[in-house]
Amino acid sequence: MKEIENPPHASSLLESMRSIGYSLESALADLIDNSISAKAKQIKIEFRPYDDDPYIAVVDNGIGMSRETLANAMRHGSTNPLQIRDIDDLGRYGLGLKTSSLSQCRRMTVISLMKNGSLAAFCWDLDVILTKKAWVMLELEENEIFKMPHVADLQAWGTGTIVHWQQLDRLAAGESSLESAMGEQMDIARNHLALVFHRFISSEHGRSRISISINNLALPSIDPFLSDHTATQHLDEDSFKVEGHKVVVKPFILPHASKLSQSEVDQAGGNLGLRSLQGFYIYRNRRLIIWGTWFRLARKDELSKLARIRVDIPNTLDHLWTLDVKKSAAFPPEIVRANLRRTIERIRHVSGRTIVFRGRNIEKGDVMPGWHEVLNRDGVRFDINRDHPIIKSFYRTLIKNQQHSFDSVLNAIESTFPSEALYSRMASDVRATPNEENIENRLRDMAKSLFSLSGMDKEFRANFLASLHLIEPFNKNLEITRKIVKEIESNEE
Ligand SMILES: Nc1ncnc2c1ncn2[C@@H]1O[C@H](COP(=O)(O)OP(=O)(O)O)[C@@H](O)[C@H]1O
Ligand SMILES: [Mg+2]
Repeated sequence: MKEIENPPHASSLLESMRSIGYSLESALADLIDNSISAKAKQIKIEFRPYDDDPYIAVVDNGIGMSRETLANAMRHGSTNPLQIRDIDDLGRYGLGLKTSSLSQCRRMTVISLMKNGSLAAFCWDLDVILTKKAWVMLELEENEIFKMPHVADLQAWGTGTIVHWQQLDRLAAGESSLESAMGEQMDIARNHLALVFHRFISSEHGRSRISISINNLALPSIDPFLSDHTATQHLDEDSFKVEGHKVVVKPFILPHASKLSQSEVDQAGGNLGLRSLQGFYIYRNRRLIIWGTWFRLARKDELSKLARIRVDIPNTLDHLWTLDVKKSAAFPPEIVRANLRRTIERIRHVSGRTIVFRGRNIEKGDVMPGWHEVLNRDGVRFDINRDHPIIKSFYRTLIKNQQHSFDSVLNAIESTFPSEALYSRMASDVRATPNEENIENRLRDMAKSLFSLSGMDKEFRANFLASLHLIEPFNKNLEITRKIVKEIESNEE
């Protein structure tokens, strides 16, 4: 047999690789991976939709590249994926820099400065490749480099790299104005990157934090586990070995939605995301790659809706996870699935319980609820809390057969509770709004009747007043409750 070399046509290969499926935010994430691997501590993303030559640039203060390294890095398939990577390396296929950039723009320039003063810049321009019909790369002269924006940042830092995108045809496609399209995309990118890199942006112990900004506005760290929230449950970390490499699993149970402020709900993914983003959060070298999925090992249901499980995998196991080029898809191998299944069993138990027992064991300082949520195998049901002071004290004043009718009334209310309607309301984006009309008078009436019914001794009454703010619905109207308590106290004297 004869060997014949049959290389691809540069232009047609590059044009089709543009459609590999990068979004703007996943393309930017790939550049940030590179910056982090190059030990950058500061990464600036610059959007300039309004100049006469609109561009996006990612500027970092990493170690930079020599002219030779940069020339090689510009080559498609610069690193063999079979090569063993540094333990902290976020790279994979030797493609990210080029494919992510050219998926968004037709002209990419990379400028790099090293500590020893070496400054180099190369450019891929799809139109040059098209005319030359060859893998022709451009090298910038020194005076051309200094005309590029943000080079002053590199000089101020003394080292670093700029990836500069021009001719943003993909962003402009189908949009009447690049400026407004870019504004919208920028917001999406902001949220995406703040989540994907949240463990780099916040200070995880033993590591210095990395600052990422978009147009000089620092990205916040979006922690999907709300791990600083006092009501978040941190379950014990678990780990197992795959081919000698450690995979670490840590489950979190988010607080019940009623304990979250709107901004916390937003951080956890918004009203809809709160339920739909349950599942595994897979981190490769602490960079989030996939999230909000149970990998078909479990259903997304009520019992597990508050559960989010952090899974840390090293880059040494890439071959098992079928990680894609964009690092946005991966599927766990059988041995990992078996271990994750075990974790699911463990947490479904706990996550279910936070809902079932919410309000069951009333301890000092806990709120006395008006209703109980009761979870069972088939679903959820709402029961009126018979121990609620208003119900209980009223019940005591009744004679036997009135008590019986009162039970029937409560039963009727419970069995007609519109839980289906409520459920579908909540699943759509509607928030529950309590009836605020005349709230002060209604609370005062409630408090007074509670008091007149209670027939307690003086000390008991004082205690009772002191804990009124822990009884629903008083706990939701603290200001008014305080006022009512004062009124009653002054009447007592
Ligand atoms: N911002 C950067 N700073 C320093 N080196 C970089 C930077 N971006 C890319 N490189 C170098 O270019 C190479 C190719 O990058 P890329 O195409 O993303 O592939 P991969 O990240 O899979 O190696 C990297 O391995 C790295 O050596
Ligand atoms: Mg890369």
